[in-house]
Amino acid sequence: MASQIPVVVNGATGKMGREIVKAVSQARDMTLIGAVARNPDVNGQDIGEVIGCGALEVPITNDYESMMAMLSQEKELGVVVDVTHPDAVYGNVRSAIAYGVRPVVGTTGLSAEQIHELAVFADKASTGCLLIPNFSIGMVLLQQAAIKASQYFDHVEIIELHHNQKADAPSGTAVQTAQMLAELGKTFNVPIVEETEKIPGSRGGQSDEGIRIHSIRLPGLIAHQEVIFGAPGQIYTLRHDTSDRACYMPGVLLSIRKVLALKTLVYGLEKLL
Ligand SMILES: NC(=O)c1ccc[n+]([C@@H]2O[C@H](COP(=O)([O-])OP(=O)(O)OC[C@H]3O[C@@H](n4cnc5c(N)ncnc54)[C@H](OP(=O)(O)O)[C@@H]3O)[C@@H](O)[C@H]2O)c1
Repeated sequence: MASQIPVVVNGATGKMGREIVKAVSQARDMTLIGAVARNPDVNGQDIGEVIGCGALEVPITNDYESMMAMLSQEKELGVVVDVTHPDAVYGNVRSAIAYGVRPVVGTTGLSAEQIHELAVFADKASTGCLLIPNFSIGMVLLQQAAIKASQYFDHVEIIELHHNQKADAPSGTAVQTAQMLAELGKTFNVPIVEETEKIPGSRGGQSDEGIRIHSIRLPGLIAHQEVIFGAPGQIYTLRHDTSDRACYMPGVLLSIRKVLALKTLVYGLEKLL
């Protein structure tokens, strides 16, 4: 049998984590060797039983450090997929890299400074690390179309819409989209009137690039984004809707395969395509 990539999922019982556990356990070239969760009530229980896909013979652990130590002892290079929380992800990634484990990070909410520090850390350790604010191919295509459109439009705003359990705002994808548009070096949205906000925040948050980002949080939503370009006499709207977290799995599996060959931190799925 060809060599298998040993994979640990951190945040394994969360909404993303459970989908990733299923996808990894079904991938022919990967072996799920660990599942980390925070809840002590599930410690030691089989992850497959807990998420309802049948026994996988992989016990859940609450002990992330020990799992990284174990993964580092595997014959093949190990990968940890992190889908936890903005408060935990920075420490998780540093720890994985210190153990020589390759992180694939879906968790959003890292600051630009934290991303820079992790890049320096990964570089010094010559260890690949992937930060992927959005694993869906549809979003990569939307961003590419937005970059093209931004050559012709001088006014743009972003609306991102998510379920109301999302902890960070704006979404990592919205921030990344604004950064991509800014890479052209163009000044967007030069105001033509002096604006006043009668309710603070009504015009949304302004990214470093001068692009307004509006964050909507409602039950019933999953993950959605609109990039709206305006010019005299026309509006051009790009929209991506996620209806099932299955849309992220091809990007997750691709990232697990690609991170093994990297020696530095890479940000964004588009760099892998
Ligand atoms: N890159 C992408 O394409 C993509 C797509 C969707 C979501 N995301 C991001 O992925 C992350 C997880 O999203 P989700 O919807 O799966 O959230 P979720 O359902 O809340 O799951 C998060 C998991 O992480 C655990 N956790 C929470 N806080 C933690 C902490 N401080 N330390 C360690 N573990 C912690 C939770 O454990 P408990 O249940 O015990 O609290 C839970 O199992 C978010 O940052 C989200 O923005 C990324």
